[in-house]
Amino acid sequence: MRNSISERFNFLKKLGGLPEPEVINEEWLYILKEETRNSILIEGFFVSEDELEEVLASGNPLKRNQEEALNYYRASKFLYGLSYENYRSKKFFFGIPLVRQTSKTIGEKGEFRKGDSRITGAKIIPPPGLYVNDWMAFFEEYVNQGFSREGFFNFLAKQHVLFETIHPFDDGNGRTGRIILNYFLVSAGYPPVILKGDEENKKKYYKALEQGDSVLRRLTEIPFSRQDVRNALEDMNPVLLEDLISESLRGSFDRILIRLLEEKEQIKLKPAQEVGRALNYSPDSIRTLISRGKFIAVKRGKEWFTHEKLFLNRGKKI
Ligand SMILES: Nc1ncnc2c1ncn2[C@@H]1O[C@H](COP(=O)(O)OP(=O)(O)O)[C@@H](O)[C@H]1O
Ligand SMILES: [Mg+2]
Repeated sequence: MRNSISERFNFLKKLGGLPEPEVINEEWLYILKEETRNSILIEGFFVSEDELEEVLASGNPLKRNQEEALNYYRASKFLYGLSYENYRSKKFFFGIPLVRQTSKTIGEKGEFRKGDSRITGAKIIPPPGLYVNDWMAFFEEYVNQGFSREGFFNFLAKQHVLFETIHPFDDGNGRTGRIILNYFLVSAGYPPVILKGDEENKKKYYKALEQGDSVLRRLTEIPFSRQDVRNALEDMNPVLLEDLISESLRGSFDRILIRLLEEKEQIKLKPAQEVGRALNYSPDSIRTLISRGKFIAVKRGKEWFTHEKLFLNRGKKI
């Protein structure tokens, strides 16, 4: 799975790299809107596509879910613009002030909690308020050291587990954490991920966080110990979350890649079945190949579209 991401990354590079996050770019607009709808759905607020359109156009939310959506949309758009500047200048600007400001922009307090906290449905108990500053200073350092290291997806998953485990705010930790996860992706030249918010996918996401945070469980219940936390992060093996991130990333990648290919290389997409016939694959195998990410492909309506030229890994057995 992660292989198919590096191939896409190289593909994008050849096409000039990640386009700037501007809403005149239809794919970016789509990603920002879908991310907003899914991320606030994880939090328990549903907003329909039409309702989101409406509130984005008027800038005037009439209901709580619309307000949540508008705040999230604005926060993510601003943050991805900023991270795009990281990517463009090959610098990495990140710190606690950015985390706090993200929390404020989504409509939360932006202040670290002083009291204790619980995560609904989770086994882990976040560290007591007394130690939040220590944990967050560590988080800031961990991110700045880990960002440019090998194993980017492993780093992304670990920092997300760490942030959600710290749960530094009274509320809005999920939304803030997902925006900064994407901030890191865009800073490195990847599109943002959309973690799906429906019940089934939310369960998968929580399970993935739980797999990661199991090594931190004891450490949140004792005074903060830098060395112990560092060792636990070394031991952490958050494969479920890594897979979830890479899988979701593929969807965003393919949207952006296909738009660029249509514009710059005049590639005309065809229904997947047709591509299958041209390449001598049965309808079943072509579907399997697409679901495994072997083709750069998009779903339009109910059908998948791709092209012979968008077959990755050619020659390798599946
Ligand atoms: N087992 C877990 N370990 C760590 N974090 C978790 C776990 N389960 C859920 N979470 C995180 O907690 C978030 C919910 O926290 P909350 O502060 O209410 O955020 P929000 O208000 O943005 O939904 C979830 O979105 C998820 O990111
Ligand atoms: Mg909440």
